[in-house]
Amino acid sequence: MVSRVIPVDPFDLVVFGATGDLAKRKILPGLFHRFTVGQMPEDARVIGAARSDMDNTAFQALVRQSLLEFVPNADDLTAELDLFLSKLSYVCVDAKGTKGWDNLVSELRPDTIRAFYLSVTPSLFGAIAANMNAHGIATKDSRIVVEKPFGHDLASAKALNSELRRNFEESQIYRIDHYLGKETVQNLMALRFANSLWEPLWNSTHIDHVQITVAESLGVEGRGEYYDKSGAMRDMVQNHLMQLLCLTAMEPPSRLTPNAVRDEKVKVIEALEPVEQSDIVRGQYRGRDGEGSYRDHAGDPESLTESFVAMKVKVGNWRWSGTPFYLRTGKKLRARTSEIAVVFRDPPHMIFPALEGRRGNALIIRLQPDEGITLRTTIKEPGPGGMRLAEVSLDMTFAEALGADAEAQDAYERLIMDVIRGDQTLFMRGDEVEAAWAWADPIISGWEENGLAPARYDPGSSGPEDALMLMHREGRRWREIEV
Ligand code: BG6
Repeated sequence: MVSRVIPVDPFDLVVFGATGDLAKRKILPGLFHRFTVGQMPEDARVIGAARSDMDNTAFQALVRQSLLEFVPNADDLTAELDLFLSKLSYVCVDAKGTKGWDNLVSELRPDTIRAFYLSVTPSLFGAIAANMNAHGIATKDSRIVVEKPFGHDLASAKALNSELRRNFEESQIYRIDHYLGKETVQNLMALRFANSLWEPLWNSTHIDHVQITVAESLGVEGRGEYYDKSGAMRDMVQNHLMQLLCLTAMEPPSRLTPNAVRDEKVKVIEALEPVEQSDIVRGQYRGRDGEGSYRDHAGDPESLTESFVAMKVKVGNWRWSGTPFYLRTGKKLRARTSEIAVVFRDPPHMIFPALEGRRGNALIIRLQPDEGITLRTTIKEPGPGGMRLAEVSLDMTFAEALGADAEAQDAYERLIMDVIRGDQTLFMRGDEVEAAWAWADPIISGWEENGLAPARYDPGSSGPEDALMLMHREGRRWREIEV
């Protein structure tokens, strides 16, 4: 495939929390990759800002170490690595105090795009934003990037929004949901809005239900303390699964502009009906074979936090009334696999003998692994023996169809380049995040009120039995969680 990398304009990117985990694992490796493919221009600069006292050389050494650890072929790229590191500088900054801010001011070049990545705990957003303003470092078109979790509930999300808006315009704020940077998630928009094939079928007349699964095989080891305050609902459903639901369910936007797309997503969230507790299954993984249980990992033997959740969600609008969306996500499941399965209704009248186990037409959009699209169809089994039906899949893996490049870009890389380009399409708007919390809050407070423990499930399974029943009782079934 022809490389279509278009270099962005020169920029100064300040990464607050530059010595933290996200910077080491995602932000800096992502920038390095964009540099090696020629998208990050030679005169772009990255300025690390954090609390630790160190000079440029020590920071560069730290970043070198992370790149060697997290970029698979970094040790073959010595020349590129040296050049990339030479673009990095470091300023020791006290987010809440005054220390270091004047040094940061002097690092920034006039008339260059400025982006500020707040890769820090949300409780520091307000202080950093205020300090940036006090020191006049955020120009009118500077971009401010913030990470999830964006709030813990509606009230805290509103508070974060108002702290940011006190200092910046909404058009400057880039709230990251890294799922929106995934290739297939964007492909969902292309699939729906660049093809005329699907639109006539994309409604409750033809679609029986939609299943959205984000399954992970790892547990919460190492992140237990954070995760235990959050759970699958806050960590995954309110944001990542919600985004997948929105892109599947939204109306075609009038144009591909940030606000036209985000307006349509907000309409979907606002159309969500309250979820009945009887339509939700929460789970928590057990321990097995010397591997700790969720409670061991969370460090709380009585934790009631869910590491799995499955639910039936209804989008109350003309297009989707009567077509439920089933969402499912969890840790320590059978495989790491994420997909959206759009399952079509059966033909109204079947003239063929029944095919045992037939599941009907489905369009499966695979996010990971092997990003791609599968269309499940029913055909006649070839050969003699009468009219026997079989189900086959029309399969397209993007990497095979479009070349290895289709896989090469991590979600963060794309999103950071979009920040530099000033394109907010793949970032969440303030009202969108608030709408998602307004939907999630009553669900979570229902659990907190009833105090019930989540159902236990075995590591390596598909989650609790009750999650299977959620669909079985309606004559439907989940797709297998498998690679
Ligand atoms: C993060 C969650 O936002 O997404 C993690 O906090 C989760 O708990 C991760 O593991 C999943 O992302 P991905 O890209 O690996 O599917």
